[in-house]
Amino acid sequence: MNRILPLLSLLLCLSASGAELLPVPRCDTPADGTFLLDGSVTLCCETALEPLARYVTAYVPLRRTASRCPADRCMVLRTDEALAPEAYVLRIAPGRVEIAGGAYGGVFNGVQTLFQLLPDDVYAGRLRLPVRLDCRTVEDGPRFGYRGMMLDVARTWIDLPHVKRYIDLLAYHKINKLHFHLADDEGWRIEIRSHPELTAIGAWRGGDSPIRAVYGRWDEKYGGYYTQDELRELVAYAAVRNIEIIPEIDLPGHSRAIAHVRPEILCAYRPDTGPSGGYDERNVWCAAREENYALLEDILSEVCAIFPSPYIHIGGDEVETAQWRRCPDCMALMKRRGMSAPEQLQDYFMERLAGILRDHGKLPAVWDEASQRGKLTHDARVHGWQSVGTCLAATAKGYRTVVMPGAWFYFDMRQSPEEDGHVWAAIFDAEKTRGFDFAAQGFTPAQMARVEGVEATFFSEIYLSHGPESPAYLDYMCFPRLCALAELGWSGEGGDAAGFRSRLTAAHNDRMAAMNIGFRLFPPEVTYRDGVLHVVTDDGSVVRFTEDGVSAPDASAPVWKGPLHTDEPHRYLFRSFYKTGRSPVVAHASHYRTVSPAFTLSSSMPATERNPFSRAESYKGHARTRRAPRPGDWVLYTFPKPLVCREITIRTGYEHLPKANITAGNVEVSCDGRTFVPAGTLEDGCLTLRPERPLRAVRIVSTCEGNGCSFVVLPAPIVKPLL
Ligand code: ACM
Ligand code: ZN
Repeated sequence: MNRILPLLSLLLCLSASGAELLPVPRCDTPADGTFLLDGSVTLCCETALEPLARYVTAYVPLRRTASRCPADRCMVLRTDEALAPEAYVLRIAPGRVEIAGGAYGGVFNGVQTLFQLLPDDVYAGRLRLPVRLDCRTVEDGPRFGYRGMMLDVARTWIDLPHVKRYIDLLAYHKINKLHFHLADDEGWRIEIRSHPELTAIGAWRGGDSPIRAVYGRWDEKYGGYYTQDELRELVAYAAVRNIEIIPEIDLPGHSRAIAHVRPEILCAYRPDTGPSGGYDERNVWCAAREENYALLEDILSEVCAIFPSPYIHIGGDEVETAQWRRCPDCMALMKRRGMSAPEQLQDYFMERLAGILRDHGKLPAVWDEASQRGKLTHDARVHGWQSVGTCLAATAKGYRTVVMPGAWFYFDMRQSPEEDGHVWAAIFDAEKTRGFDFAAQGFTPAQMARVEGVEATFFSEIYLSHGPESPAYLDYMCFPRLCALAELGWSGEGGDAAGFRSRLTAAHNDRMAAMNIGFRLFPPEVTYRDGVLHVVTDDGSVVRFTEDGVSAPDASAPVWKGPLHTDEPHRYLFRSFYKTGRSPVVAHASHYRTVSPAFTLSSSMPATERNPFSRAESYKGHARTRRAPRPGDWVLYTFPKPLVCREITIRTGYEHLPKANITAGNVEVSCDGRTFVPAGTLEDGCLTLRPERPLRAVRIVSTCEGNGCSFVVLPAPIVKPLL
């Protein structure tokens, strides 16, 4: 091919109009004139595109439709074999709008670009015609064929309407895969007709369920599942939106839920249930039990029949192979097969599953651990989640790989240090996701040839503590990071990555508001110089503030009109608001400063040897008790030097996760070390106190019977100094 042509088209593209499309299209060329989109316009399409035409008319009120186009005043949807399947050309001319795509997906992508050129009301189902569109030609196609998002409905049950809403949001962003995490330790969410007990029992946890809840509502029966009819409905719903649903049954680990329905699937040894109060926490299928493969055949054959995706994700992550080590049958199988390490049993297990899938015309998708030894069949697709290194290793072994290392793509991670979310992979925001650079991360051209695309996840254990019925936390964690993922997957590493943030401000925040997404704004910048507090935003948002040093500003808080002279910058909390978006609460660094006063920790619950009380006392980690709390159990913090502070937070459990805490209890304080007075009750295992007198001791007295866990985590208190 002539080398000058692409260069020329690139130059032409550089002169393109700035429509602030997101993802940035390959080429957007303005033309003279306008097209009047009004009720007289006829929407016409090929028969195969009729579902798409119906989708369009749900957003754009065009009443006239036809299979053959009039010469003028029409909107044409058509396929063009000369284009790649997901590529499209959107041409807006004075007489007609034409969207040609290589296949259904290409036309769908062109429709999404057209939506972005219409008033934002299109997303709210309130588009009023007429609308005048500037003429232009957008020639566009994706960098990657795989642009995915994973949703974990196992930890937090998400009902069908909310999953459909999520699919709509993915579709608006030209994401084309939904990786659907349907089974994990905390729940089984897919009806298997040959084994109805899997959902009758396995879809529920807590309360009187044999499955103990670890996260969130541990003492309440909680859960839900999708029937096969509902899943077929969802598959069809997604297909209209150019989204393939790839179901995941996480195997052979992460299987505690099904193991409580069918305990015989576990390895044949008696577990030590002492620390867990009699509860069997094992979660790995026995690799040697032949009947297990028959049960898995039953399950996977039904999964394969529901989902048309060529791939079925069979997990393979975080397998606790110690369970196989303790199993005489697994050890005997290893010996028979000449295996030296239990990890080889995982290769055996995954290959058996791959065989089942093959019999049903499907291919396996797996988490990267399953490909680590290179034994897995090379037609498997690998999801590289642990690190860039594991993605590089999978591509080097020749596996087609979806790149999704947690430090860029796990949207359950925190977006800044003071916000909610996990931290184990990284703390990162949308700009980091958008900035992922394959070459800089060491992918060679040969490895890039095996990169199918990118995916992000939302694992949902923390969602629970934010009210699973509400999409607000999901929205906040995913947007605009999902916009960044969409653009990286569509436009690639370059594609004006630096302009991502300004595209949000200029146009896409308004679109997200019309989509009714509770998105995150980038935090305002707070500085304090020469006694003056300054707050700056660059996104057109309104900054509101509180000045009690505690309360998070809400939408009714006063508007910040600063700068402001103050000796107490730590007292001011800020948050910006723009339509349905909000920033995290931010403050000057002085607000967050903590001190580490000496204290001693003691409790009626004994500590473990590995995490003794001294670990919390020395601020080098946390203490862990050897059992769960019972009513009357106490935890005592004593301060050898009377503690003077503006705030002290007594925390039980993990900082970010409603797990391993004292779920209910009273807090008492003492100013002399002998007499205690009530100071409040724990909420989510925590209480923040603002003592007016120096403290000698703080005591928690448990009122709960158990905490859904086999231990309590006791970190150091968080102490904020007087300023
Ligand atoms: C995973 O995050 N365990 C895939
Ligand atoms: Zn076994």
